[in-house]
Amino acid sequence: MYATLWRVRAIPRRIPRYHRCLSTDTHVTVLGQQYKRDPTTNITSAIIDKLERRLHLQQSHPLCILRTLIESHWPSFTHLSNFTPVVTPARNFDDLSFPADHPGRSTTDSYYINKDYMLRTHTSAHEVETFAKGERNWLLTADVYRRDEIDASHYPVFHQVEGASIFSTSPNSIHELEEDNARLGEYLKTSNIVIEDIPHITPSNPRQPTHDPRHAELVAQNLKLNLNSLLLALFGGRAGVGSGEPLRVRWIEAYFPFTTPSYEVEVFWHGKWLEILGCGVVLQSTLDRAKVPDSIGWAFGLGLERIAMILFSIPDIRLFWSQDPRFLSQFTPGNIEPFKPYSKYPPCYKDVSFWLPEQGLHANDFCDLVRDTAGDLVEDVALIDSFTHPKTKRSSQCYRINYRSMDKSLSNEEANAIHERVLAHLKGNFGVEIR
Ligand code: DAH
Repeated sequence: MYATLWRVRAIPRRIPRYHRCLSTDTHVTVLGQQYKRDPTTNITSAIIDKLERRLHLQQSHPLCILRTLIESHWPSFTHLSNFTPVVTPARNFDDLSFPADHPGRSTTDSYYINKDYMLRTHTSAHEVETFAKGERNWLLTADVYRRDEIDASHYPVFHQVEGASIFSTSPNSIHELEEDNARLGEYLKTSNIVIEDIPHITPSNPRQPTHDPRHAELVAQNLKLNLNSLLLALFGGRAGVGSGEPLRVRWIEAYFPFTTPSYEVEVFWHGKWLEILGCGVVLQSTLDRAKVPDSIGWAFGLGLERIAMILFSIPDIRLFWSQDPRFLSQFTPGNIEPFKPYSKYPPCYKDVSFWLPEQGLHANDFCDLVRDTAGDLVEDVALIDSFTHPKTKRSSQCYRINYRSMDKSLSNEEANAIHERVLAHLKGNFGVEIR
């Protein structure tokens, strides 16, 4: 299950048989381009349909409003938002020094068009090419794709903003950083924010061997100051903080394959700590691949949906994809106003119990099948029971699916008809035996 950041999950990899059986076609068309299917292909039509929506570019869409707000925080940076979601695994993983056995590479976690092309799982996939173009201070917003379970805050497509800033390794830049850090520090000192900080660099969160210690320290500090002031701009003085209370931000040591030192940042909102972003000092090897000499810098990645759900009080992540005017007409560029729910239609729960096929069935394969069959009518899928027969050793699972439309009341007959289709696909594609 992902939040904003890449989660490392210890789930054994299984072959997504369902996708291989999905179509007899030899090719799959993605954004007008034909690709040869192979055993890696696991992209579904429900996902392909999302590729052209580009919600972050729809003027009055909350994700676009939030993108614009973040961009206005760094007016001098280059603002990029037009990169194709189809990337090579090399761009998505190797460029960023992901190890060969990283779980994110598996077909259970990521969408593959075939073994050579996939949908980016994070905006960091574009770091090397953006640095290579000569961009030194930039923000990049894009849709990203990860296979996952289904509930009100998880959706297989979401949006991220990647930001980066690199400086020359010359002594001059030390002075510039000192000045910039002093300016930002002064501003934050007089603002209503309480920051729970940690040391910039520690033995467990080290600087890079090629970096000058003072320079690395200043870059990490610059990263923290920039992001603290962004979080103040986004969350400061809003209702979830408590009236008159300071915004509370906390820094945590983290690990990412492409940064060191690395951090995660959380914001205290309605009494809970919420993970907002990941960041760190860019690995020298990333800059080397981009052929950017004599530079040192920071980067971060944040998830837009999580923040937009908080700021606009949006209760269900599917709403971002709604084309209902009752949703879309509520937002205007430049304004953060709470969404007024027009209705919550009744849920319709249906259970499905089945004997697992021999090769097993990954939860993400099950969820993609439900999503592909029921679209956004599925609100939540929960595994409610697993059982292994003591004698036969056969295993069975029971999932509870909650069907609920965002836009209208679903009749029991309609829900039954969708559920029947899910059962038929389950039998037809996975060869499971329904109990
Ligand atoms: N790409 C990471 C993710 O999706 C987030 C991230 C972490 C981006 C650290 C960065 C970074 O640029 O420096 O989980």
